[in-house]
Order: sequence, then C-alpha cells, then structure tokens
Amino acid sequence: MRIILLGAPGAGKGTQAQFLMGKYGIPQISTGDMLRAAIKAGTELGLAAKKVMDEGKLVSDELIIGLVKERIAQDDCKNGFLLDGFPRTIPQADAMVENGVAVDHVIEFDVPDDVIVSRMSGRRVHSASGRVYHVEYNPPKVEGKDDVTGEELVIRPDDQEDTVRKRLAVYHEQTEPLVTYYKAQAEDGKCQFHSVKGTKPVEEVSQSLASMLG
Ligand code: AP5
Ligand code: ZN
Repeated sequence: MRIILLGAPGAGKGTQAQFLMGKYGIPQISTGDMLRAAIKAGTELGLAAKKVMDEGKLVSDELIIGLVKERIAQDDCKNGFLLDGFPRTIPQADAMVENGVAVDHVIEFDVPDDVIVSRMSGRRVHSASGRVYHVEYNPPKVEGKDDVTGEELVIRPDDQEDTVRKRLAVYHEQTEPLVTYYKAQAEDGKCQFHSVKGTKPVEEVSQSLASMLG
C-alpha cells in the first residue's frame, strides 16, 4: 500500500505514521526526519537545509525530489510506503507522476490553525526514531523520556510560535493546493482521496484511518 499523508505542520502526520507503520508493515518516509538526520550528521544536505528549516520555509524541490527518489528505490519500499511531509508542492507531486510513482491513498488531515499553534508548544520528539509525543495529549510513560529507548526527548527548534505561524502560512500557500490536485486525481481514478478530522483524540483518528484504508 502506498499512502500520502497530507496536512499542515502539527496536524498529526508523524503521530499517525507510527500507527500505520505498525498496522500495515510499511516504512514511513518523513522528509522532515530525513533532513533533521542530515543536519545532525553534518552532511552537505544538512548544512543547506538547516537555515531554511529554522526559518520555517521549504527546502528546494530539487534537493527533496532527489532525496525521496533515492529512498523509494530501496528494498524495504517494494511493498509500499507512507509518505509523511512529501509531496509539499505541485512540482514535487508532478515529479512523482513523471517518475511513474503511483499512490493508492491520499489522506488529508483537517485541523484549524489555532489548534495547531497550541499543540506545537507541547510537542516533544525522540530525534533518533522520529517518535512524537505531547506533554498533555500523548504523554510518554516517563516524563521527558522516550517509551522505547528511555532516551531524552527534545523540543524541535522550529516549534517556536512565530516559526509555527510562518510554517502555517507556507502550508496554505504552497502545500494546500495539493488537496485540489489529488481530488482531481481521485476523480480520474488514479488514487483514493480521504479527509480525516485531525482534531479528534489520537486513537479516534487512528480508528478512522483504519476504516478508510481497510
Ligand atoms: P516536517 O518535519 O515534515 O514538519 P511538518 O510538516 O511541519 O509537520 P510536523 O512534523 O510539524 O507535524 P506532524 O503533522 O507530523 O504532527 P505530529 O504528529 O508531530 O518538516 C519540517 C521542515 O522540513 C519543513 O518546515 C521544511 O523546511 C522541511 N521539509 C520537510 N519536507 C519537505 C518537503 N517535502 N519539501 C520542502 N521542505 C521540506 O503532531 C504534532 C503534535 O500534536 C505532537 O505533539 C503530537 O503528540 C500532537 N498530536 C498529534 N495528533 C494529535 C491529536 N489527534 N490530538 C492532540 N494532539 C495530537
Ligand atoms: Zn512530522
């Protein structure tokens, strides 16, 4: 199964990706996590991406398309994958079509901006795995520690309120047009388009996704 998770920053893509990976046995491809790993490793890609990400802007299509193309070609993606945070622009979506990468399901997470701003202030992440928590809505078993490894949780540098607002503006301008794009593809029978209310509790969103995907 090939799935695209489409939604604003903080809509819950990474959280539900954890659930879907376990349920369907397909890998999560999070371009955000891949970029953060590159920053940590100090690679050329990481150096180029850091400033852009800290400002809440998008990394160039060219860099991202190359990154995803390479990742999708790996063995573990043979039976499907979960795209989290890609595509994020019309040229990125067009690149998938040009490279013959079809998808089965596109899921849009519907969450209003004001909910997102308040959510982000409580997010904590485990950098190595990409596991996501929230101090109130999805707390770890031990405060400040990852459930699996017990390692320290951190706050993402782009989760400050002014950066979150910039990321939301970028989302509305550059990514939201993909909703119309994929609705049109669904009408042509190329994929299925679903919209999920991302404001419900984490488990309820997971249940909705499971019934949509079968
Ligand atoms: P990326 O890492 O993709 O960030 P994002 O899209 O902004 O999304 P987030 O990871 O912030 O949110 P999410 O939807 O995964 O929400 P989460 O599950 O964590 O990208 C970061 C940057 O990298 C970009 O700004 C850009 O610079 C660059 N980049 C990445 N991809 C790119 C691309 N394709 N092209 C160009 N540039 C790219 O949840 C958020 C919080 O809410 C958590 O605390 C969680 O516990 C909580 N929560 C989740 N669900 C619920 C719920 N139902 N109820 C209550 N709380 C909930
Ligand atoms: Zn995420």
